[in-house]
Amino acid sequence: MILVTGGAGFIGGNFILDWLAGCNEPVIDLDALTYAGNLETLADIADDPRHVLVQGDVCDRDLIAGLLEKYRPRAIVHFAAESHVDRSIHGPGEFIRTNIEGTFVMLEAARAYWNALGGVEKAAFRFHHISTDEVYGSLTADEAPFTEENPHRPNSPYAASKAASDHLARAWFHTYELPVVVTNCSNNYGPYQFPEKLIPLTIVNALAGQPLPVYGDGKNVRDWLYVGDHCRAIRAVLEGGRPGEIYNVGGHCEKTNVDIVRTVCALLDDMWPSEGGSYARLISFVTDRPGHDRRYAIDASKIERELGWKPEETFETGIRKTVQWYLAHPKWVANVQSGAYREWIDRQYGGAETAQ
Ligand code: NAD
Ligand code: DAU
Repeated sequence: MILVTGGAGFIGGNFILDWLAGCNEPVIDLDALTYAGNLETLADIADDPRHVLVQGDVCDRDLIAGLLEKYRPRAIVHFAAESHVDRSIHGPGEFIRTNIEGTFVMLEAARAYWNALGGVEKAAFRFHHISTDEVYGSLTADEAPFTEENPHRPNSPYAASKAASDHLARAWFHTYELPVVVTNCSNNYGPYQFPEKLIPLTIVNALAGQPLPVYGDGKNVRDWLYVGDHCRAIRAVLEGGRPGEIYNVGGHCEKTNVDIVRTVCALLDDMWPSEGGSYARLISFVTDRPGHDRRYAIDASKIERELGWKPEETFETGIRKTVQWYLAHPKWVANVQSGAYREWIDRQYGGAETAQ
């Protein structure tokens, strides 16, 4: 079996659903169920004996050591993190704790467990650290996309905490020979993403007739990848990736934020027309994110060359599926928009809008 951390979140949840749809190998899912963890994402496998959910913290050494001893996984896929840049700007403390200390605790527990394994099991074991392209910093318009050789130049508290966790993962391989693989992926989108991130926020605000906040001039660029393609990349690296290696994962899909928002509006105009006219009327340029990275772009040629992975979805097919999913799951959306969600929206966007 495998141990997944953060499996009730957006990418971890998609990963577990895809994993169990494709094979019968059980998954132990360790998740603290923070505001971002959602059991409804896993509702279809709630009674599936192949999925064991453990509510707990990646900083809890005894719990993790006990889980490794009890379940004896062949791999750990470490997704659990605080993941939202804007929240890291308001309150970095939890990002330092979960993303840095949590990764340290996971690596140490894995090291003790792995050291005690015998020949074949020891050779096959993998610690897969899930990371982000944000560790590489920001590109100018004419710089080449990030390769695995780019230095880490993180600019937000979130990115700095992920960069620190990448360094720990690297050091545990070099010093202790723990078989670590790291993937650094670009912006994901798809079903089950919490509506604090750009694409789901745009969809749910548009459907509610609320402003669609675009930071600054809207020209910041991200490289978008459908979440199912990220999950396939993780499976490929888990099976064929070389210990100690980093694999960049991206969609070859650079788009400005304002283009993303306009595309979502056009799809909604087509699939769920509003009586008030095009949803694009709701676009509202607001105060920029402090330290906002201008451009991310990923060179994914290493994983393509070594492991034969390539994205299957184009942005056009992936974004259409995503909008359709949110339209078909109003209950999931309503349930995540709790009191705590509304407090966040008020804190982040309250009074910050400027004229278009
Ligand atoms: P998410 O915020 O949707 O989910 C995070 C999950 O981790 C939640 O289920 C939460 O309950 C859990 N968690 C948080 N703190 C925990 C703790 N202390 N102990 C145990 N569980 C805890 O995040 P996501 O978007 O699914 O991202 C998953 C991983 O992928 C993160 O490591 C993130 O840095 C990375 N990543 C995300 C993206 C993206 O676009 N979303 C892109 C590249 C990499
Ligand atoms: O690049 C990978 C990263 O992508 C992951 O590591 C992070 O976990 C994930 O949250 C994401 O980070 P971003 O900051 O790029 O994603 P977000 O959806 O928050 O923002 C995408 C872009 O849209 C960014 O340039 C900021 C902008 N934005 C975002 C929000 C929430 C807006 O213009 N308005 C908004 O309301």
